[in-house]
Amino acid sequence: MRNPRDFGKPLAIGAPAPVLEIPFKPSRMIHFLDFSNEKMVAKVPDIAPTVDILLGNLEDAVPVDRKQAAREGVVRVGQEMDLGDTQLWTRVNSLESPWVLDDITTLVREIGHKLDVMMIPKVEGAWDIHYVDRLLAQLEARADLERPILIHAILETGLGVVNLEEIATASPRMQGMSFGPADLAASRRMKTTRVGGGHPGYRVIEDPDPSDPEATRATAQQDPWHYSIARMVDACTSAGILPFYGPYGDIRDVQGCETQFRAAFLLGCVGAWSLHPVQIDIAKKVFSPDPDEVRFAKKVLEAIPDGRGVHMIDGKMQDDATWKQCKVMVTLAEMLAHRDPDLAEAYGFEPAAAV
Ligand code: GLV
Ligand code: MG
Repeated sequence: MRNPRDFGKPLAIGAPAPVLEIPFKPSRMIHFLDFSNEKMVAKVPDIAPTVDILLGNLEDAVPVDRKQAAREGVVRVGQEMDLGDTQLWTRVNSLESPWVLDDITTLVREIGHKLDVMMIPKVEGAWDIHYVDRLLAQLEARADLERPILIHAILETGLGVVNLEEIATASPRMQGMSFGPADLAASRRMKTTRVGGGHPGYRVIEDPDPSDPEATRATAQQDPWHYSIARMVDACTSAGILPFYGPYGDIRDVQGCETQFRAAFLLGCVGAWSLHPVQIDIAKKVFSPDPDEVRFAKKVLEAIPDGRGVHMIDGKMQDDATWKQCKVMVTLAEMLAHRDPDLAEAYGFEPAAAV
């Protein structure tokens, strides 16, 4: 057992103190780019203002002979580009890979002051987080960093799902988690080659009609990810960290992507990965609360300033719990409105009211 008093102390002499409250910034999409591609690096000044989080990917999808170039590309972006309010994240290679040690040491040394979050793939238990936690503290001390780099775990193995709660609370550095359906499907030996979304074979069917057993029976696809995403949301929210949906692989299926993102949003995820520009717009649409709902939530907060008692507003019962739901929605809307003038107008916020 770790002494809770030590939780707020740095893990290396000279490292910055851990943050005990995870900052909530606009996080509707984590946009994945491969910076081994020079053209991608050159496009960063145009792409950065259109996304909430820009992530330099070093892991899967980056070919082995481009691993080093991808790492150097992230360093260049961190050193040479002004990303404004957009966060800079990276996904390093997995902890058993031959590249990860150089990924972590190089990035902290070269651009540690610019890097907000380090995404760690294939996290299986608290021990993976403890390893990265101590290593980051040592490197941060050496690089003289003033604020800690946060850790984001990808949930993409059966063991990771089993150990969700321990992963979420393994370190004050834990910023959040992303759901990784591709590796998770492989780890579980699920019989699908898709990245996210449903599957035509995974469905429910109504009972046969006894008087007409041959009649066509209604049937519908089910969501194979519901259980694990819901568990991830509970583990994250109970630990004060942020859950995200991960990748949707069928880029052309914009409707499928929107449906998957929306299911995650409604369950409590704050954002999703975008693998292509078309998915940036889908994430914006889905993870920005609906203007009608925001206007209604504002009305509830204005009508019940102290958030207590039972009230009827537009024929709907409001109590302490619905007031809290409205508060979550308006706080998020205010933050997004600050970043996006179109949303500010749709939500009916004065520019000065945005925070
Ligand atoms: C993401 O990395 C996934 O495996 O789905
Ligand atoms: Mg993966």
